[in-house]
Amino acid sequence: MKLPIAVAVVMIAGAAGAGPLPADVLVDEGAKNKTIWPYPQQDSGKLIYKDHRRDLSKWPTLSYGDDRATPRPQRARLTGTLNGDPARGKAVAMNKGRGNCWACHALPGDPQAGTAGPSLLAFKARNYTDARVYEQVFDARVVNPVSAMPPFGTFGLLSEQELRDVVAFLQSIE
Ligand code: HEC
Repeated sequence: MKLPIAVAVVMIAGAAGAGPLPADVLVDEGAKNKTIWPYPQQDSGKLIYKDHRRDLSKWPTLSYGDDRATPRPQRARLTGTLNGDPARGKAVAMNKGRGNCWACHALPGDPQAGTAGPSLLAFKARNYTDARVYEQVFDARVVNPVSAMPPFGTFGLLSEQELRDVVAFLQSIE
C-alpha cells in the first residue's frame, strides 16, 4: 500500500511545487504525465523505478492541480465484420502492458484468475453479439457508469485492431 500513496504525494507535491522529492523517486521533467514502473528489490524493502510505460497526458491524474475533464463515455459502433484474430487477441488480453484483462477476469490458462470482474470462462456460451462485446471493451461505462474496467477504446489504450482481436478471442472461449 505504500507505493500509491508515495506516487500520489509526488504528483501533488510536484503540482504545487512544494518541497524536495524523496531521493529514490524517479522524476523525469520531460515526461511528467507518464507512468513510472516500480520494482521491489528482493529482501531490501526498496523499490527501483523503471522507465516510463504509458503516456497519461490524454486523461487526468489524481493530482489536485490537474483540472482536465475525464473523456466522456463513448458508445462505439462496430463497423463491418469483426475481422479479428483470436490468437492475437489472447496475446493482448494476457499482456500486462496491453489489455491485462486477466488482472480482473478469469481467462483460460490463467494461473491466478482475477476476481474484480466476472469470469470470462465459457464466454462463447453467453451468445453476445460481436457488436455488444466490442461496445463493452471499447468503453465499459456505457453499461455501468461507475465501472472499474478501463475504457480501452475511448482512452486509446488499445488500437481498433487490438479491440477486434480481443473480441474475437472472447467469442472463441468455449
Ligand atoms: C480493473 C479491472 C478490469 C480490467 C482490467 C478489465 N475488466 Fe472487464 N470488467 C470489469 C468489471 C468490474 C466488469 C463488470 C461490469 C462492470 O462493472 O462494468 C467487467 C465486465 C466485462 C465484460 C462483460 C461480461 C458480461 O458477461 O457482461 C467483458 C466482456 C469484459 N469485462 C472484458 C474485458 C476485457 C476483454 C478486458 C481486457 C481488454 C477487461 N475486461 C479488462 C473489470 C475489468
